[in-house]
Amino acid sequence: MGQLRTNSGLAEDLLIELDRDAGVPLHRQIEASIRASIRAGRLRAGASLPPTRTLAAGLGVSRGVVVEAYQQLVAEGYLASRSGGYTQVAASMPPAAADADMMGQPAARSVGFRVDFGYGRTDVSQFPRPAWLRSVRTVLTTTPNDRFAYLDGRGVPELRQALCDYLNRVRGTLVVPANVVVCNGYGQGIALLIQVLARRGARRIALEDPSSGDDARVLAGAAGLEVVGIPVGPDGVQVDALHRADADAVVLTPSHQWPTGGVLSAAARAEVIGWARRRGAIVVEDDYDAEYRYDRSPVGAMQGLAPDHVVYCGTASKTLAPGLRLGWMVVPAQLVADVAAAKLLADRGSSVIDQLTFADFLGRGEFDRHLRRMRPVYRRRRDVLLDALRTHLPDLRPAGIAAGQHVVAWLPPDLDEAAVVAAAARHGLGIQGVGPFRIAGAGPGGLIFGYAILSESAIAEGVALLATAIREVRES
Ligand SMILES: Cc1ncc(COP(=O)(O)O)c(C=O)c1O
Repeated sequence: MGQLRTNSGLAEDLLIELDRDAGVPLHRQIEASIRASIRAGRLRAGASLPPTRTLAAGLGVSRGVVVEAYQQLVAEGYLASRSGGYTQVAASMPPAAADADMMGQPAARSVGFRVDFGYGRTDVSQFPRPAWLRSVRTVLTTTPNDRFAYLDGRGVPELRQALCDYLNRVRGTLVVPANVVVCNGYGQGIALLIQVLARRGARRIALEDPSSGDDARVLAGAAGLEVVGIPVGPDGVQVDALHRADADAVVLTPSHQWPTGGVLSAAARAEVIGWARRRGAIVVEDDYDAEYRYDRSPVGAMQGLAPDHVVYCGTASKTLAPGLRLGWMVVPAQLVADVAAAKLLADRGSSVIDQLTFADFLGRGEFDRHLRRMRPVYRRRRDVLLDALRTHLPDLRPAGIAAGQHVVAWLPPDLDEAAVVAAAARHGLGIQGVGPFRIAGAGPGGLIFGYAILSESAIAEGVALLATAIREVRES
């Protein structure tokens, strides 16, 4: 629809074009326009129409003309008059084709699976709504208007301070607010970092192999950086391979390697930091799910060992909800200005209301409380998964520490990973193999079990389906 103008200017609340020379009464033109918008799905069921007085003023017609048009559409069933004196598109309107498309689910959703072990999903049904609402209310009732203006590229001071307090207390970091940059999740954080590193002359970036395929690998390629995979063993990345990689930066998940689940040992951490110091390189520490360690306290963040060489990245995606798009980086002093400038260039800053809300939420201790509530829930789900694997599939070898929201289990050599994944899908089980996340290609077959959003009975059912699928692969 083009921009619609009337003799008296733009009707801001509803796009309606009037042609005063058409010889068609104005109320009929308004009716036809609204009817067409509803049929085309531009106005959805339940959408509120502007008050008659407002629309009339915008269109430069008398209010009676608009009233007549609305009344006709109410009579036809397109609109409904509500008791508060306003008019809505009737709820019984059939959804328009375009709308139905938009409501379709993303391809990654577990459409058609009886059980889906898809990874990377947090139990958003447990989002602490009442506590978050309390913080939103506090922010909206106490924040002066001028705080809702444009932002500093690093984020609001309250959140940067609250994150420092939290990270220094819980993750053993060495952070001051000036070095924190708030971003829209790790996904944006790594994108900004890669841009900045490339602009500052980096040529080669090392990634764990296997590692998450959908961010650093793609982004580095797009920024013109060469990507080199560093093999991962049971205790995280193999540092001797890093020494040979001739890289300017390395991205690690040291507290819980994604996906294999190992923890980088103290000696390996020290070696990585020595490597970074000698080369003037940067270590990106993706601390994506460090909040969930079930058998002991998590190892402190690497950032605390070398604040000048480590960029620490955290996210609310695993703890609160991925849809919040809240993440944070602790950036070495020499990179802060560049990263903050890249953030401003990308989107002019993350939502100030969300940042202030999260700051209040952290400050009240609600984040700690939420984590204390969720740890036993995820731990039970993990225990149920491991019990079921031991019972039904004893020759699969679960790897990694008691942590996080997923487990990798290695397949015995007689089982082909892709064949197992395909057979599982035929039996109504969604599961992914490790193979697609490898950089150099080869390696043992393994399956990634995301358990965070599954009930204990669904987990047990999923393992039983997998056992059936594996039996079929072996028999074929
Ligand atoms: C390895 C890893 N890091 C970080 C994240 C979180 O990304 P974001 O904060 O952009 O949601 C994920 C999400 O699944 C992940 O797998």
